[in-house]
Amino acid sequence: MTHIIDGNAVASDVRDGLSTAIETLDAEGVTPTLATVLMSDDPASETYVSMKQRDCEEVGIEALDIELDPEAPADELFETVEDLNADPNVNGILVQMPVPDHIADRDVIRAIDPAKDVDGFHPENVGRLVAGDPVFKPCTPHGVLELLDAADVETEGADIAIVGRSNIVGKPLANLLVQKADYGNATVTVCHSRTENLAEKTRRADVVVAAVGVPELIDGSMISDGTVVIDVGVNRVERDGESTLVGDVDFESAKEKASAITPVPGGVGPMTRAMLLYNTVTAASRQEDVPVDLS
Ligand code: GUN
Repeated sequence: MTHIIDGNAVASDVRDGLSTAIETLDAEGVTPTLATVLMSDDPASETYVSMKQRDCEEVGIEALDIELDPEAPADELFETVEDLNADPNVNGILVQMPVPDHIADRDVIRAIDPAKDVDGFHPENVGRLVAGDPVFKPCTPHGVLELLDAADVETEGADIAIVGRSNIVGKPLANLLVQKADYGNATVTVCHSRTENLAEKTRRADVVVAAVGVPELIDGSMISDGTVVIDVGVNRVERDGESTLVGDVDFESAKEKASAITPVPGGVGPMTRAMLLYNTVTAASRQEDVPVDLS
């Protein structure tokens, strides 16, 4: 029987695990606070941000909702970030990407105080992660590690193929999986659009992580029996005249071969959101010097 890994259930466990830490902070008069900044009228971005806000409120994290006109000059965004950096009541800052074309994502990431960078995207946090001393693990890779742990998948010595080399998922996940650390010690192959013989790489892997943004690229013919399949993709496609969400994995054919697989929706997505809460609590604990148990 293929194990369908329930990301909603694991995310709920992560949120439950945060409640003691939030109580500890509360007893010291600290309410973890996340500021979200949305400078877009893309409906998907609006939905993601409102879900993140709702998640915060459900666990006792204060959510500050800042919306900027997508046509506003770049300075308005940078001044907003500077104000949030300087605000002692704000522990975490998330600027929803992408920002409008007249502003570079990279400049925005660099403007955020690394101590409040709960996405883990700032070069200082990327450097710490690569050096094996992360403060904030980026939310999606962190969520993937938690899913592997919850599904009792041993990464030590495993051959893991990551399909996708983005700064948000592929690269940080590869770095985490090769660390000499819990959920690490794997042998990682990072595949991308120029990879030759992709199926050869995925077929010899014990774990395949698809994070490439191509609907249903990985099908059952590309994996071996017993493979663990983690699908990070979220793609909106038209099917039978209706808009529907699919991953980067063809779930039906991959499920026939996989020993365990994440669905879309209900797999990695809820974990990304849960790990954002985790990072916000981590940020509050560090800034306020209140130790909390986040094991
Ligand atoms: N846009 C899509 N995913 C993300 C994310 O994880 N963080 C931010 N800040 N923007 C995103």
